[in-house]
Amino acid sequence: MTYLILRVDADMKDLKRDIVLSVENLHTSFQVGRRTIEVVKGVSFEVHRGKTLAIVGESGCGKSVTIHSVMKLLPPQGRITAGKVTYYGKNGRVLPLSEYPPYSKEMRAVRGREIGIIFQDPMASLNPVYTIGDQIIENLRQHERIGKKEALERAVAMLQRLGIPDAARRVHDYPHQFSGGMKQRAMIAIAMICNPQILIADEPTTALDVTIQAQIMELMQELQDTGGTSIILITHNMGLVAEMAHYIAVMYLGRVVEYGTAEQVFEDARHPYTAGLLKSVPVLGMKKDRMYTIRGTTPSVDEVKEGCEFTSRCDYVMESCRKGVIPEYLVDEGHMVRCNLVAEGIRP
Ligand SMILES: Nc1ncnc2c1ncn2[C@@H]1O[C@H](COP(=O)(O)OP(=O)(O)O)[C@@H](O)[C@H]1O
Ligand SMILES: [Mg+2]
Repeated sequence: MTYLILRVDADMKDLKRDIVLSVENLHTSFQVGRRTIEVVKGVSFEVHRGKTLAIVGESGCGKSVTIHSVMKLLPPQGRITAGKVTYYGKNGRVLPLSEYPPYSKEMRAVRGREIGIIFQDPMASLNPVYTIGDQIIENLRQHERIGKKEALERAVAMLQRLGIPDAARRVHDYPHQFSGGMKQRAMIAIAMICNPQILIADEPTTALDVTIQAQIMELMQELQDTGGTSIILITHNMGLVAEMAHYIAVMYLGRVVEYGTAEQVFEDARHPYTAGLLKSVPVLGMKKDRMYTIRGTTPSVDEVKEGCEFTSRCDYVMESCRKGVIPEYLVDEGHMVRCNLVAEGIRP
């Protein structure tokens, strides 16, 4: 009984702190043949109302699997083995997402309406045999009692807002008639049409040219400013992170290795991997061959059995780094670093 009361207290505290989503100690594994490979190893983060959390880290570190776990969108061979995910909805609703099965009515209601997601590959996520408009209104009509005509009007308005010219006509186009940038916007329209509390954008601009990237980012920021939307931005582009993020989670091989406000992470990076990422941000006018790169390559997820995942590439390795699980050190309020250098008082 005491436990229950404590939990409600904790939830109330999160509500007061303006948290809209909390992920605690999430573990996800994949079954590959007869082997079980853990690809997300105890990830925790929080999403604040109306703010942007950037999840950064190189390809394969588990960013997409993390959010697919939160949304219960894992492929059949994937399994969440531990963790707690809580969504704080409108009017003080607290939903323990981790307790709902993937196709429960609770998860269906949350996906699309409360949390919108722009998938990493828009070309693969749009259905080629339905018009853009049909795909936008499908999400809307699943969640709201609304007629087809009105839904289509909303879709047109959204496409207009997203800068699609001649939207009233283009809404009837099929995906192949849209350019890459326009498909990306169509994906954003699908994700945004129900006015979700959280918008998850999984590397939304990787395949796009720089001008369209900037437009899309501006647009997401505008949606945030006008609608109070929280954004989870997944990217490996540190320039984008600097521009967009209020909070940053740096991931390396299935773990969050540094986490804090944008200011804490940019001004006081304590993990050698974060420091390396920041040094490798391209600066305008810099020659490519002068740019810093972190030495070595990422080991595969199941290669590191013990100690810190970053040891093979780290310039500061100590004996203690090769043993056990590296603890999470709190270097400042809300600034977490998973690196033994903190205990030694060494800054990378
Ligand atoms: N369906 C799958 N089956 C087996 N392994 C997978 C599957 N999807 C992803 N993985 C593995 O999980 C790890 C994390 O992948 P992912 O989350 O997609 O990385 P990223 O950070 O680039 O988004 C990778 O090592 C990848 O190989
Ligand atoms: Mg990914």
